[in-house]
Amino acid sequence: MQFVSTSGKIEKLSTPCLILPVFSKGSQAKLTETFDQAHDGQIAETLKRGDASGKAGNTLLIQMPASCATKRVLLVGLGEQGKTNAEDFKKAVSASMNALKSLPIASICSTLASAEVSEKGSEWKVRQLVLKSHEALYQYNQTLTTSAPDAYALETCQILADDNIDEDTIEQTANTASSIANGIAAAKKLSDLPGNICTPSYLADTATAMGEQYSSLNVNILDEADMEKLGMGSLLSVSRGSRQPAKLITMEHKGGATSQKPIVIVGKGLTFDAGGISIKPSSGMDEMKYDMCGGASVFGVMQMCSELNLPINVVGIVPSSENLPDGDANKPGDIVTSMAGLTIEILNTDAEGRLILCDALTYAAKFKPDVVIDIATLTGACVVALGKHATGLLANNDELADELLAAGKKADDKAWQLPLWDEYKPQLKSNFADLANIGGPAGGTITAACFLSRFTEDYTWAHLDIAGTAWKSGSEKGATGRPVHMLSQFILDRC
Ligand code: BES
Ligand code: MN
Ligand code: ZN
Repeated sequence: MQFVSTSGKIEKLSTPCLILPVFSKGSQAKLTETFDQAHDGQIAETLKRGDASGKAGNTLLIQMPASCATKRVLLVGLGEQGKTNAEDFKKAVSASMNALKSLPIASICSTLASAEVSEKGSEWKVRQLVLKSHEALYQYNQTLTTSAPDAYALETCQILADDNIDEDTIEQTANTASSIANGIAAAKKLSDLPGNICTPSYLADTATAMGEQYSSLNVNILDEADMEKLGMGSLLSVSRGSRQPAKLITMEHKGGATSQKPIVIVGKGLTFDAGGISIKPSSGMDEMKYDMCGGASVFGVMQMCSELNLPINVVGIVPSSENLPDGDANKPGDIVTSMAGLTIEILNTDAEGRLILCDALTYAAKFKPDVVIDIATLTGACVVALGKHATGLLANNDELADELLAAGKKADDKAWQLPLWDEYKPQLKSNFADLANIGGPAGGTITAACFLSRFTEDYTWAHLDIAGTAWKSGSEKGATGRPVHMLSQFILDRC
């Protein structure tokens, strides 16, 4: 859906559907009252009858008389007047799209962003209006035939300018938000694909196609022979357990000066994680197709940078492999040599994410990065520690950590920092190699980050563990596109 700005008198708008806010308590919004006074007080009457509750997310569609330039009105509840919070607002936006998406309406006009929301300004409201609408309209259809959902009629949403935000600012804000939303959708689309379609080669082909689409984006794919030459023994050891060849995908967005050091983002692209010889239990194993969500978020962020042609240098790296129990797979006790030269004792073949990431992180140094941020569905322990709401954040630099935490807050895509203290490091001691790939059951998210930190000593680095936040389970099973919004905000704030 396209978002455009519009202005004019509320009571004279010519639109197939006007979205107006209503409150459950207190006086109604000025816009709603002005419109209503020009239209026989029908809304006030409807509210009096109790057909629209005004509770956050409640909706009621009203048909207007044939002579009226506004053909329909959708009343959308925002809770008590003066008490609408960020969650109420987001609920209301989602509800408005859900109420309209199956109707034959191509164009709508929303005034929700004119309603007051505690602690939030107009730009936040316009951004969320765009993002939440895109989320409500996201449809997975790649592998559906008879059960494929019908395409929506919705095409354009006008956003009404007011005293707090002019048409230009709306257009700019909506344009940025649309590219973030497209990045999120691109990440979700890749993540939701099954492991037999979305293989490392599929991801590599997707990157190549993106490189052809955007002139600012340079794409480079390393195959196993290339990685062999670079000495990526750790990454390649994981891929040996599968028939799909590994790929190391690099996407470079060159929008800044040549002298500007890039932000490098590295995403785990494990297209299916069965655990290898340390095989996982079968229940719920299908969800391990989501073990490439970190990589998918890198695709989403690179697309956002390219679409907006951001004046900054960003490099996206996606090491991609499967983790399966082939006859040639890693065995517990095997020792491999990483590109950095450190030997690793593989005590559990299911701790494979760090094995592919460590070589990609060593490779990242080649871009002389300003900062490196990796994103990975790395540990089940992170889901235990933080649940499904916060992404785990660990960093070797507190300024970078604070910058990411702030970006997450601003974007409503939050992270929570865990300690990366030296005290945890002895848990990775091995009698036979420089380090072991697991640190025991205590502090699993932290010891995983400690493992990675051995490969990131030469630059400023942060690690995002998205095991809890990258997808939803149960009846809502599907990717969330997190943390594309957090990273987009981080990059936008640096532009
Ligand atoms: N991809 C998993 C982590 C994961 C588990 C993400 C559950 C989301 C939900 C990772 O490769 C893995 O298997 N990690 C192991 C590490 C352990 C063997 C030290 C884990 O978390 O169990
Ligand atoms: Mn695993
Ligand atoms: Zn994994």
